[in-house]
Amino acid sequence: MKARPAYFPLSLRILHWLMAPLVIAMLLIGVGMVASVSPRHAALVAIHKPLGAVLLVLVLLRLTVRLSQRVPALPGEIPAWQQRLAHASHCLLYALLILQPLVGWAMQSAGGYPVVLFEGLQLPALLAPSVWLHGVLRGAHGVIAYLLMASILLHLAAALFHGLIRRDGVLASMTGGRLPAAAPASPPGEG
Ligand code: HEM
Ligand code: HEM
Repeated sequence: MKARPAYFPLSLRILHWLMAPLVIAMLLIGVGMVASVSPRHAALVAIHKPLGAVLLVLVLLRLTVRLSQRVPALPGEIPAWQQRLAHASHCLLYALLILQPLVGWAMQSAGGYPVVLFEGLQLPALLAPSVWLHGVLRGAHGVIAYLLMASILLHLAAALFHGLIRRDGVLASMTGGRLPAAAPASPPGEG
């Protein structure tokens, strides 16, 4: 059986580091939108909706690549239950990243608002207009946003714990940085 690589494939690393700041920006823009009654509100909405649609395409692309490639294993000395927890937290992140833009899009459709990506390109409505559904999905969009914030904070804490305290190569597997001496190295460009 082919050995697991030491680094995430380059395509997955590029997608990870492209999406990470965009998702954090979307959370900040979303909170800014609902907290702002200033003229900036319209500009924030005009960024939030198309960027959300772009992120939906990126996460679906990323999931497809992820399911077709081998990725690094966590260090063997990490207990099995922690490895399962890490895997579950990644599955949760993927699920939230797919759900959030779909709920945002469906919420807009239920509210009867068009989702315009740019001049001349409008997404089709996912649902027929319904005040009740608009309210439910609006609530769900906020709850998923909080779940995303919490899981990203835990994810960041875990990544820093690996990178700064354990120094076991897990952070390097995603940054492409230097691996600890004992780890089986294959060039970071390979996947
Ligand atoms: C990764 C994708 C997305 C993230 C992380 C995200 C995040 C957020 C956040 C944090 C809020 C504020 C929630 C609150 O405080 O209650 C928000 C509001 C909102 N989002 Fe998103 N969103 C995403 C995608 C979308 C998409 C694709 C659409 C529409 C096509 C959308 C439409 C909206 C609207 C209209 C609001 C404001 C609702 C209001 O003013 O009551 N979002 N979003
Ligand atoms: C900003 C600081 C971040 C750092 C330092 C970081 C670091 C890492 C590291 C080291 C891994 C590999 C973990 C492992 O093999 O167990 C990873 C995986 C992952 N990260 Fe991050 N990350 C960051 C932000 C984010 C954000 C904002 C998101 C999502 C919105 C995210 C989503 C993911 C996902 C879904 C995986 C699983 C990769 C896979 O198996 O395909 N990361 N991250």
